[in-house]
Amino acid sequence: MKQLTLLQLALVWFMSLLLLTSCTEPVKNEQFSENKEKAKKLLSSLTLEDKIGEMTQLAIDVLCVGNPYNLQDPVTLDEEKLKKVLVDLRVGSILNVGGHAYSREEWKLIISTIQKYAIEEKPTGIPVLYGIDAVHGVNYTIGATLFPQQLGLASSWNPALAREMGAVTAYETRASGIPWDFSPVLDIGRDARWPRLWETFGEDVHLASKMGEELIIGYQGDNTANPHKVAACLKHFIGYSMPLTGKDRTPAWIPERHLQEYFVPTFQAAVDAGAKTVMICSGDVNGIPVHSNPLILKDLLRDQMGFQGVAVSDWEDIGLLVSRHRVAQDFKEAIGLAVNAGIDMAMVPMDTEFPILLKELVEEGVVPMDRIDEAALRVLTLKYELGLFENPFYPFEDYTEFNSEAHQSIAREAAQESVVMLKNEDDILPLTKSAKILVTGPTAHSLNVLNGGWTGVWQGNDPNYSTDGAKTILEAIQSKIGGENVTYLEGASYDEVEDIQQVVTASKRHDIAVVCVGEMTYTEIVGSIDEMRLPAAQFELVERISATGTPVVVVLVEGRPRVITEIEEASDAIVAAFLPGDFGGEAIADVLFGDVNPSGKLPITYPRFSNSLLTYDHKGTDLVKQDFSMNAFNPQWEFGHGLSYTEFIYSDLHLDKNKLSQNNDDKIQISVNVRNNGKRAGKEVIQLFISDMVASITPPVKRLRAFEKINLEVGESKTITFSISAKDLAFVGIENKWITEPGAFEIEISGLNDVFEID
Ligand code: BGC
Repeated sequence: MKQLTLLQLALVWFMSLLLLTSCTEPVKNEQFSENKEKAKKLLSSLTLEDKIGEMTQLAIDVLCVGNPYNLQDPVTLDEEKLKKVLVDLRVGSILNVGGHAYSREEWKLIISTIQKYAIEEKPTGIPVLYGIDAVHGVNYTIGATLFPQQLGLASSWNPALAREMGAVTAYETRASGIPWDFSPVLDIGRDARWPRLWETFGEDVHLASKMGEELIIGYQGDNTANPHKVAACLKHFIGYSMPLTGKDRTPAWIPERHLQEYFVPTFQAAVDAGAKTVMICSGDVNGIPVHSNPLILKDLLRDQMGFQGVAVSDWEDIGLLVSRHRVAQDFKEAIGLAVNAGIDMAMVPMDTEFPILLKELVEEGVVPMDRIDEAALRVLTLKYELGLFENPFYPFEDYTEFNSEAHQSIAREAAQESVVMLKNEDDILPLTKSAKILVTGPTAHSLNVLNGGWTGVWQGNDPNYSTDGAKTILEAIQSKIGGENVTYLEGASYDEVEDIQQVVTASKRHDIAVVCVGEMTYTEIVGSIDEMRLPAAQFELVERISATGTPVVVVLVEGRPRVITEIEEASDAIVAAFLPGDFGGEAIADVLFGDVNPSGKLPITYPRFSNSLLTYDHKGTDLVKQDFSMNAFNPQWEFGHGLSYTEFIYSDLHLDKNKLSQNNDDKIQISVNVRNNGKRAGKEVIQLFISDMVASITPPVKRLRAFEKINLEVGESKTITFSISAKDLAFVGIENKWITEPGAFEIEISGLNDVFEID
């Protein structure tokens, strides 16, 4: 009986995938087809060893003098290891950085040596594909332009900035000799506890899809062989961001319908935008590690979504099928599972056994030859797509715009637009420049906390790799109002109070206390937490200062919305920055003193309590409260919240009709007028939410369906029009198919409402 049920379930899953498959058109791309033809020709001349080599990716550590787990400085390539890896094993791809960021000159030496060796010594002469995590600018090249991390970028609600950031990052990555960027993260950030939340574009599918699509266009342009462009890598496909525990790399349980509706769309938008590569999720979803799951790697990624590029494993994940997931007896079995499931390239990354064992598996008939051909063909096609055969590296001196004024001004603008003013009681902000200010708190004087992980070093915590001249919050405030007007006392570390009495006494002598709280840097597992509240020391710091009567302005610098309930109560104003990058200190000071009118909005729901972590698009039934009321959604701040120094008045919500058909060409035009009624120019994000009033799958209370960011001068007004079709309101229904059901839909734009019907 149990067996029969499982069989039935498998059948339903299979049928639903078949149905979904029929919706996807193959991507048409002439350039891609030409490159694929060239790759096919080359493939036909390769041996099994050559092909498997192309499927292998090792970390640069393995090529360096010394112990790969503990490299010496300066990092130096080892001739003997180059021979073993590139010639004997024919390895086709190298990644990462040995321990810490390099200067461009060092990158030049490393990349050109590797490429020269590959081209001259490797029997095939095929150049190496180098990949790097350039996730907020080329963060492993010293002196590069550093942008906000993705959550900060999403707070700008400005997709145009994402495109510009992508273009600058691509340029500076190529300027470092590297053509492949392991970015963006398209995991949907729907669990505030997850330590990689700051790497996402937040909780909303529409916002994240738009930002991701633009970032990819910025990275890749329309031709990745362009010396200013790189191949993007969508990660981590799929279901990585919502582990049940909230901790990194722990199992996720995501129903198929939910996976399709909330997790697939960001990746689908990126595939449709032409993304070249995808990195696979390290976790297990519904009991199966994604690295060994053909239902996800083939049926979903290839057949349903139409992805044609390279699928690379994540760091060490094939090995982890043995040691963590325990779905394979040994490394060899794990390799068979992963390659047969659909992994094209293995980020091994330190073990040179992979190509040897994979060859044995092919010879033993465990891995079919056509799977090897398919994978190697994809890798070779990518190498052609990147122009590596014509130009394995471009002249370094051609990149005169590296960290130029123009690049910096885009990063500065992104940082400024990423700052979110959450609270401003009695208009205490902006501060006057003549005020005497006490600056305190663990995030006040650190560039590391502004940049977060993947900066200089993996954990982003080594000040030796901070950019010269970039300002901390303290330094930015000092340069804005003069050092003589500013007193700095650290007050507390992340989790310990330091000489609190001194801070209390000092705050009485100042007009304002700017208390900078938040998180220290962390990347991946290291950032998993047991407690959502910030440590007690930070609460104590804010509360003790507030008790003196000196007005408190809190600056929050963090990678996820840590619970700050009493900090909020004890403060007069709060400004948040989700890892705004090198220009974050200046951007925060610009907002505090009114040189920039804040325009950031939350891309996540900010929770008030640790055990109430709902997203804004929860279900109606999520609202049931202990007192039997329906008021359980009570976040500290809602998704989309963010204040301005000016006032925007919304009026004239207008629908050009009140009935919409299911025909995709039929659109309803929803317009609204927005006027800047205040005393200064400002940017506003117009957010269109729509609620499906009745649906066969319990509908979320509302969903963001469109948004636009505009600039309005004083007294200026604009009419914004959104065009919505029935397809834009679809959800994944009972049969796991996208459907829009007839009935009433309610519109909400900034408190204005209307209703229309779908036939
Ligand atoms: C991370 C990826 C990253 C890779 C290479 C992994 O640990 O999960 O996001 O791209 O390392 O550095």
